[in-house]
Amino acid sequence: MKTLVIAGGTDGIGRALALACLERGDTVVVVGRGEERAKELLARRGVGARVFFLKADLRLLAESRRVVEEVKERFPVVDALVLCARCHRSARVETAEGIEENLALLYLSRYLLSHGLVESLVRAERPVIVNVAGSRVPLEAVRWDDLGLARDYHGGVALGQGGTLNELLGVAFAETYGAGRIRYVLIAPADIRSGSEEGVGETPASILAVVDDPPADPLSAFVEGRRTGVADSPADRRAAARLRELTRGLLTG
Ligand SMILES: NC(=O)c1ccc[n+]([C@@H]2O[C@H](COP(=O)([O-])OP(=O)(O)OC[C@H]3O[C@@H](n4cnc5c(N)ncnc54)[C@H](OP(=O)(O)O)[C@@H]3O)[C@@H](O)[C@H]2O)c1
Repeated sequence: MKTLVIAGGTDGIGRALALACLERGDTVVVVGRGEERAKELLARRGVGARVFFLKADLRLLAESRRVVEEVKERFPVVDALVLCARCHRSARVETAEGIEENLALLYLSRYLLSHGLVESLVRAERPVIVNVAGSRVPLEAVRWDDLGLARDYHGGVALGQGGTLNELLGVAFAETYGAGRIRYVLIAPADIRSGSEEGVGETPASILAVVDDPPADPLSAFVEGRRTGVADSPADRRAAARLRELTRGLLTG
């Protein structure tokens, strides 16, 4: 039986994954804002002692950091961290901490959870981080001097850039921890209906497959269920290092 932390586990792919895991006897920590949807999960028969809800708005760095601390305190061993939380806005919004919302939720929160939970993950036998994101823009299209898209915001661009930043997060994470046991897996699902438990397709099953049997490589990627190459060119590694530096600035500034 495994212990999974699912960020964005109250709806869509994350919720379907949570249900599948609870059904087979795993322990699941669901992170999200939707208390009502979480209550319904908590009330499922036979799962009460194995499902935990951490209410958090992961757009806020302070909330992601709080989640890290709570998980570390309550779950010393975590087998899998699954990152599914996202939002989509057609207009640019900044959080109360002054960070563009997609950058904060889709990338910075995933960075904080990935790095912050290493301590609990390394205690597991075959730990894995599954970062579920979507389409990506090419490296040349990343707005390095304007990651928060203050100029010419477009919701689709924000999501695409977020996908690329997560890929680079995986590259940098694998470089740092790849000699150890934690495996980083990037999953880009086929398009499905967001916010729906029924329309999630094969993605929860494919996440479960890598949770149960993580690939041997420190970093791996799957697009619509098929394993693909990973970003491992010198340019990718330079971009990952550049992003890591920019991220440190964003997290301390
Ligand atoms: N759906 C697709 O067609 C598709 C295609 C390609 C890739 N993907 C990727 O797959 C992943 C999951 O997508 P999905 O379709 O399952 O999404 P979804 O149905 O929209 O669910 C998003 C999840 O994120 C949580 N969330 C949103 N804002 C949050 C916040 N501020 N703080 C904490 N949690 C928050 C939501 O919970 P609360 O509202 O309770 O907070 C919900 O659990 C995403 O990364 C997405 O980019 C999806």
